[in-house]
Amino acid sequence: MMTIITTQMPLLLLLLLSLTTFHKCMSINDHKLVRCNEKDKETLSIFKKGINDSYGELSTWSTENDCCAWKGVTCDNITNRVTKLDLQSLPGEINMCILELEFLSYLDLSFNEFDVISFTTIQHNITHASNLFYLDLSFNDLQMDNLEWLSPLSSLKYLNLTGIDLHKVTNWLQAVNTLPSLLELQLSYCKLNNFIINPSIQYSNLSSLLSLDLSYNNITSQLPNWFFNLTKDLTELMLQENNIHGEIPSSLLNLQNLRYLDLSVNQLRGSLPDGISQLPNIQHLGLYSNMLSGSNIPSTLENLSSLNYLSIGRNNFSGEISENTFSKLSNLNCLELASSNFVFQFNLDWVPPFQLSYLFLSNTNQGPNFPSWIYTQKSLQYLNLSSSGISLVDKNNFSSLIERISYYLDLSNNFLTGDISNLTLKGDTLYLSNNSYTGGLPNISPNALKVDFSYNSFSGSIPHSWKNSKDLQSINLWNNKLSGEVLEHVSDWTQLWILNLGENEFSGTIPIKMSQYLEVLILRANQFEGTIPTQLFNQSSLFHLDLAHNKLSGSMPECIYNLTQMITSIIDSFPRTTIELFIKGQDYPSNIQSERRTFDLSSNSLSGEVSLELFRLVQIQSLNLSHNNFNGTIPKEIGGMEHMESLDLSNNKFCGEIPQTMSLLNFLDYLNLSYNNFDGQIPIGTQLQSFNASSYIGNPKLCGDPLNNCTTEEENPQNATASPENEDDDSIRESVFLGMGVGFAAGFWGICGSLFLIRKWRHACFRFVDGVGDKLYVTLMVKLNSFHRN
Ligand SMILES: *[C@@H]1O[C@H](CO)[C@@H](O)[C@H](O)[C@H]1NC(C)=O
Ligand SMILES: *[C@@H]1O[C@H](CO)[C@@H](O)[C@H](O)[C@H]1NC(C)=O
Ligand SMILES: *[C@@H]1O[C@H](CO)[C@@H](O)[C@H](O)[C@H]1NC(C)=O
Ligand SMILES: *[C@@H]1O[C@H](CO)[C@@H](O)[C@H](O)[C@H]1NC(C)=O
Ligand SMILES: *[C@@H]1O[C@H](CO)[C@@H](O)[C@H](O)[C@H]1NC(C)=O
Ligand SMILES: *[C@@H]1O[C@H](CO)[C@@H](O)[C@H](O)[C@H]1NC(C)=O
Ligand SMILES: *[C@@H]1O[C@H](CO)[C@@H](O)[C@H](O)[C@H]1NC(C)=O
Ligand SMILES: *[C@@H]1O[C@H](CO)[C@@H](O)[C@H](O)[C@H]1NC(C)=O
Ligand SMILES: *[C@@H]1O[C@H](CO)[C@@H](O)[C@H](O)[C@H]1NC(C)=O
Ligand SMILES: *[C@@H]1O[C@H](CO)[C@@H](O)[C@H](O)[C@H]1NC(C)=O
Ligand SMILES: *[C@@H]1O[C@H](CO)[C@@H](O)[C@H](O)[C@H]1NC(C)=O
Ligand SMILES: *[C@@H]1O[C@H](CO)[C@@H](O)[C@H](O)[C@H]1NC(C)=O
Repeated sequence: MMTIITTQMPLLLLLLLSLTTFHKCMSINDHKLVRCNEKDKETLSIFKKGINDSYGELSTWSTENDCCAWKGVTCDNITNRVTKLDLQSLPGEINMCILELEFLSYLDLSFNEFDVISFTTIQHNITHASNLFYLDLSFNDLQMDNLEWLSPLSSLKYLNLTGIDLHKVTNWLQAVNTLPSLLELQLSYCKLNNFIINPSIQYSNLSSLLSLDLSYNNITSQLPNWFFNLTKDLTELMLQENNIHGEIPSSLLNLQNLRYLDLSVNQLRGSLPDGISQLPNIQHLGLYSNMLSGSNIPSTLENLSSLNYLSIGRNNFSGEISENTFSKLSNLNCLELASSNFVFQFNLDWVPPFQLSYLFLSNTNQGPNFPSWIYTQKSLQYLNLSSSGISLVDKNNFSSLIERISYYLDLSNNFLTGDISNLTLKGDTLYLSNNSYTGGLPNISPNALKVDFSYNSFSGSIPHSWKNSKDLQSINLWNNKLSGEVLEHVSDWTQLWILNLGENEFSGTIPIKMSQYLEVLILRANQFEGTIPTQLFNQSSLFHLDLAHNKLSGSMPECIYNLTQMITSIIDSFPRTTIELFIKGQDYPSNIQSERRTFDLSSNSLSGEVSLELFRLVQIQSLNLSHNNFNGTIPKEIGGMEHMESLDLSNNKFCGEIPQTMSLLNFLDYLNLSYNNFDGQIPIGTQLQSFNASSYIGNPKLCGDPLNNCTTEEENPQNATASPENEDDDSIRESVFLGMGVGFAAGFWGICGSLFLIRKWRHACFRFVDGVGDKLYVTLMVKLNSFHRN
């Protein structure tokens, strides 16, 4: 559950940003005839100097205008003094001289792009800012070494420094304690790392605090026993997503007004303080993902009748959860008990007193029957019941339940069977993988974003209705019995990032028109035929391409391979869920990061020489061309693919020597060159020797460690200089040059002219392959060596 929320965070922020900006725009300039105070105008002008107004946000801030009419400025309509400043989208420096505005009471500089904060004169004249009650500097790109500048702001009630890097501030608690009026303190995402408190100080000034947000920091210490004694009136406490250790101090029970408590995702141990059931107002209780234990939880919950949010999964709690646990919890809206050891005991006809919107019971022991009380929940939007041992459902109730879930449905890793092809699933995220569904795929809604129906036995073709789901970002149909052509659908899914149709019986040709955002394309183990369309090599976002085990034929296209993500080192992608990937030349799926750059064309009927453009894709980590009819030689440019971890060229007709440059592949830990026509000596003195003979067998003319020693006749230095290939000499030199620096090569190869050079080189190589040009290789090596020496 937490991961979902985390990955959506940037979007939420964006949304928030646009809302705030919108809201802010509405409130500009509604007052006109006010005359601005000269001193205020001067202070504002100094503030403006630090700002790089590249977006023209401050175009109204001209000294000819009344400063009370400047964008973001509000004046008191009696005194004409500036009381409020509210600005967004400004880059540059915050000059805290702004606090010298004597009557300023409200300062909102959140969501700007300030990266410098300067305190020039305010140390002396800060007392003027004692009217300030609201200060929001959140969501800027700022770092601060101390918070001492806060101390004169004695009227401050609301302080928000969310997102400011405060990791160097050790005495932050002491600094905020100088603010006797503080009601709300937001220090989330500040990289705070301690609760260090100076014992000689009385923290009485924090006693009026109502809301304290320290979530998403890096606090690794324990919660000191007196921590909850700082303040008694607290209603909201957010400490989630830190690294807080130890037990929950019993002083927590001092907080009798607590309504919102979140301690999720920390390292807390021990049991909950017994009296927690006597916190009568608690509405939000988040303890998810700690190491808390004890069997008193169910009885504790019974009395928390105000609860609307309960998230206590991923702990070591035990005990029996029954309808008694929930009998008074009629306000419950979100229930999360995932990955827990509770024993669930509900009567079959139990009707809960609540109607949930969110229910997370994944990795719990529910089955074999689908928990019938869930059928009574009419407004569920999120349901996660993955890995909960369910095999039996009441067909009608179940169908109507999963059809009405509007956002998120995860029933993966159960034992569900039957035919759901008549259903239309409304959710935008649908995970039904690893069940035993048969029959056709269900219909999905036009809002669908992510669908995973992998590891079932769905058959037939992709329903026509899926064409209307234009927003689909990720589709996983791996390992079913699906068939038919996919051309038409794929061209309609213009937002796709991930398309995995592997291990099915899909047929036809590879779609020409695909989403420009496509990052992962897996068509492995189907019946696709025809050639590989050149358009595929213009998918600049693609970094995982797997077309293995199909019936593809023809040669690899000769064109510029504009697969930018396989060339540059920046993965321009959101963090994604893991997908099934295939590495090390073996057909096993393993859950590893989808960021792995993969190029797999193995087990097709592809032929001809491999385009040199392929070896330009220097970020590839896994390259598999095995079990085809590729011929020609392996160019030395392969040495530039320095991230290569797995290389399989086996069972082709490659020939010639193994390029010396292959020894540059430092990360290689799987190599298979077997069953080709390679000859000559395996390059020595490198880790190429660390692979055993099976990596090289089936190449009768290949020799050297780990195969048999080479006989001396095979080396032929005399013929090296007597080069009859003079016509190609210069182009070889250039090719060698190109092979040298990857950066240079990548830049240079983009030019059409170089392709011509390369082709000429390949022409030469072709003769070499025919056994004419043994000496050519030697020439090449000599040149390479002399290049190294220079
Ligand atoms: C102002 O911002 C623009 C664009 O963000 C940048 O190109 C320019 O260098 C900045 N100027 C100063 C003085 O920082
Ligand atoms: C000052 O402005 C506020 C809000 O615009 C208004 O409610 C109030 O009546 C004004 N006061 C005077 C004295 O004009
Ligand atoms: C502080 O404020 C006083 C009165 O407003 C002014 O005379 C003085 O110059 C200010 N000092 C500094 C360092 O800005
Ligand atoms: C910052 O905190 C204040 C007071 O707690 C709150 O009202 C405000 O909305 C917060 N600002 C943002 C950008 O979330
Ligand atoms: C509490 O706030 C007052 C007013 O700002 C201040 O004088 C006092 O030093 C503060 N107390 C502590 C312990 O910081
Ligand atoms: C968290 O704190 C530890 C030391 O306590 C430090 O090594 C680590 O870099 C910090 N992490 C972040 C993200 O600041
Ligand atoms: C916290 O406050 C409670 C009651 O207000 C008191 O009994 C307890 O001793 C205090 N604990 C600490 C560590 O100050
Ligand atoms: C789907 O609906 C059709 C028509 O309503 C019906 O004939 C068919 O039996 C249904 N299939 C399943 C699996 O329920
Ligand atoms: C390569 O892709 C980029 C987009 O990433 C595009 O701007 C460029 O025009 C493409 N180049 C060619 C030769 O198609
Ligand atoms: C490589 O294969 C292609 C097509 O199969 C063929 O035309 C070409 O002659 C072959 N080249 C070599 C060197 O065998
Ligand atoms: C290869 O040659 C080395 C010495 O040059 C010798 O020790 C080794 O036994 C030989 N290996 C084989 C398999 O002939
Ligand atoms: C040089 O190559 C030719 C043919 O490629 C061969 O006949 C000759 O024996 C070679 N010379 C030496 C010294 O090996």
